[in-house]
Amino acid sequence: MCLNSAALFELAGLVDDLLLTLKHTLKECRWSLETDVEPGLVFDSFPGPLDQVLTNLIQNAQSHAFGSHSQGRLRIEARRVRESAEIVLRDDGVGMPADVVQRVFEPFFTTRLGQGGSGLGLSIVRTLVTKKLGGTIRVDSEPGVGTTFTLLIPLVAPQFEASMSADAGGGSDIPLNQPESP
Ligand SMILES: Nc1ncnc2c1ncn2[C@@H]1O[C@H](COP(=O)(O)OP(=O)(O)O)[C@@H](O)[C@H]1O
Ligand SMILES: [Mg+2]
Repeated sequence: MCLNSAALFELAGLVDDLLLTLKHTLKECRWSLETDVEPGLVFDSFPGPLDQVLTNLIQNAQSHAFGSHSQGRLRIEARRVRESAEIVLRDDGVGMPADVVQRVFEPFFTTRLGQGGSGLGLSIVRTLVTKKLGGTIRVDSEPGVGTTFTLLIPLVAPQFEASMSADAGGGSDIPLNQPESP
C-alpha cells in the first residue's frame, strides 16, 4: 500500500471542488470570490485538513468580514514558494482592531458570543496548519480595510517526508524487539 499516492492532490482542483461545495451557501451573498491558484501545485499531504482550513477561512469571511457589509471581495491566491505553497486569502471586509488580531487563534475567542460564534474556527485552523500540515499561518488586518491570512504549506507533509526517508534508507535503525523499560 502506498500512503503517499493516496494523498497526492493538486491544489487548483481541491479549491475548485471546495467552491462547488460552498456554492449553494455563497450564492445568496453579494460579495464575490475570486481565485488565482497556480496550476500544477501538487501536494503529497492531507487534502481533508487543508480543505477544512480553507472552508473555515472562507466561512469566516462570510460571517465576520462581510457580515454587515453588503459588498466586497475575497481573493484566494496560491503560488509555489520553494518546496511549499503560499496560499493567501485576502478580504476587503470590516477588518479587525489590533486587540482582536492578537487573539484570533485562541480557542473560544469570538466576537460573536451568543450569535453563533464558537471561537473554535481559527484555533482549529492553526492546529491543522501547524501540526497536521507542517506549515505556518499569519494574519494581517486593519479596521475598515480588510483581513489577509497568509499560509505557507509544505508540498510534502512532514509525516510523509519521514516515511519516505525511512524507505530510502532501506529500513530503520530501531531494533524491532526492544526490551520494555521496567
Ligand atoms: N475575515 C475576518 N474578518 C474579520 N474578523 C474576522 C475574520 N475572521 C475571523 N475574524 C474574527 O476572529 C474571531 C475568531 O474567529 P473563529 O475562531 O473562527 O471564531 P468564530 O467564527 O466562531 O467567531 C471572530 O469572532 C472574528 O472576530
Ligand atoms: Mg469562525
